[in-house]
Amino acid sequence: MSYIEQLYDLKGKVAVIIGGTGELCSHMALGLAKAGVEVVLSGRNEDKGLAGVDMIEEAGGSAYFVATDLMEKGSLYALQDIVLERSGRIDILINGAGVNIGKPVFDTPTEDFQTVLDINLTATFQACQIFGQYFIEHSIPASIINLGSIAGMTPISNSFAYSASKAAIHNLTKNLAREWAENDIRVNTIIPGFFPSEQNQRALDETRILEILRQTPMSRFGNPEELIGLTLLLSSAKASSYITGSEFVIDGGFSTMSI
Ligand SMILES: NC(=O)c1ccc[n+]([C@@H]2O[C@H](COP(=O)([O-])OP(=O)(O)OC[C@H]3O[C@@H](n4cnc5c(N)ncnc54)[C@H](O)[C@@H]3O)[C@@H](O)[C@H]2O)c1
Repeated sequence: MSYIEQLYDLKGKVAVIIGGTGELCSHMALGLAKAGVEVVLSGRNEDKGLAGVDMIEEAGGSAYFVATDLMEKGSLYALQDIVLERSGRIDILINGAGVNIGKPVFDTPTEDFQTVLDINLTATFQACQIFGQYFIEHSIPASIINLGSIAGMTPISNSFAYSASKAAIHNLTKNLAREWAENDIRVNTIIPGFFPSEQNQRALDETRILEILRQTPMSRFGNPEELIGLTLLLSSAKASSYITGSEFVIDGGFSTMSI
């Protein structure tokens, strides 16, 4: 094994990727699979999940899809049971499911605000609790990666419910890292900037795209593949052994700009 292979040795690990049917997490999953991880793509859309499995298998990796509805807590327990039955272990959890209603404050009924919090924040908390308990009970030196957002750092127009949920995820991650460091569980946040996806393409008109690019030193959107390097780092127990409670922004410099 080369030095790099030893440092990033992920072979035989199993990753559960909630939101793994989405644009960003399916690529994070592909990167992990190429590094030898068996990946479990979880989300609402079976067609997308199976397409993700095909993409990974074509690349020589191993993956399967498990349908999950995050509005049902039982669904996360079922996900864990299915993965343990089929794969026998879990080492990595990625919480990447997310929704954005994209409305201003006065146009947002409390039920819509609550739905965003339920899917983005509460489900992340519950997944960490359920899988964290498994990691601790089985003394597994696990890595949990939560997906935040630059909208959770500085507010972005028409995304206040989403921003609030993501700010809370950044804080939740640090709390979990503090509580579970003694159990050898590392919990970190990846904070993406603007990446093209179904969710945000609906919200981006030409004016907004120009505003974003003007504010981005690299003058372009991110490619989902550009999340893979950091995903491999944070998943590798050896390469990131002293990294927990940290936030990693990948945004082409967007959040470094003021005027
Ligand atoms: N795309 C971006 O520019 C961007 C920027 C910052 C942060 N993020 C965050 O990164 C993560 C991935 O984003 P994406 O662009 O790939 O999103 P996406 O819309 O492509 O994927 C969202 C995922 O969430 C899952 N999901 C939503 N509601 C669910 C529910 N009720 N039950 C089960 N699964 C549900 C979907 O099945 C899908 O897998 C999200 O948390 C998002 O908020 C994305």
